[in-house]
Amino acid sequence: MFNSWRYDFSMEIKTANFVTSSSEYTQCPPADKPEYAFIGRSNVGKSSLINMITNFGKLAKISGKPGKTQLINHFLINEQWYLVDLPGYGFAKVSKTQKEQFEPMIKNYIVNRENLTSMMVLIDSRLPPQPIDLSFINWLGEVEIPFALVFTKADKQSVNKTQASVAAFKKKILEDWEVLPPYFVTSASSKTGREELLQYIGEINKQI
Ligand code: GTP
Ligand code: MG
Repeated sequence: MFNSWRYDFSMEIKTANFVTSSSEYTQCPPADKPEYAFIGRSNVGKSSLINMITNFGKLAKISGKPGKTQLINHFLINEQWYLVDLPGYGFAKVSKTQKEQFEPMIKNYIVNRENLTSMMVLIDSRLPPQPIDLSFINWLGEVEIPFALVFTKADKQSVNKTQASVAAFKKKILEDWEVLPPYFVTSASSKTGREELLQYIGEINKQI
């Protein structure tokens, strides 16, 4: 898919630029570079994690109020690959109309975006397994989209509690899946997990 490109995938972030916000996958930038999209419940920390990974200040807009990100936002990294910030799912307070717009928008993007190399499914490390996350993950399985799990906000609790949450989630996943997906424990505040995530992305980029 990317044969026309010569890549030197250094995982040092040299440049990170906002490209565009799209309300449909058809409006997204040309599908000619590897792409990693961040999804998860509203307020789980998708935009914060993109800022943490890129280390380029306030690239993605964050908010204490759920429902901040409402479009498909593309960020071009090192002129070579894309990070994508998506709206959250499962936020009760967005209007029904908004919700009805989000769902097909996100699902159409995921199913149709040819250069989508891996979804990053963000999970709040403080919560027990949430049905909405599990059903989203199972849907990704049905449509055969690769993904990694990213546990967020690890700074907000003890290491033991985070480990217990991760273990509970793994157990749930293994009820439906034969193998565990790659997973990462992160904190946008303390930068935990940054190197590991960049390494994961770098490895995939190299294989393409
Ligand atoms: P939507 O765009 O609304 O779907 O939310 P989002 O998933 O992009 O979450 P966002 O990054 O906007 O963060 C939501 C809130 O959680 C903000 O107040 C962040 O400051 C906070 N937050 C995100 N990540 C972390 C983290 O790792 N640690 C702590 N302590 N707070 C975090
Ligand atoms: Mg956001």
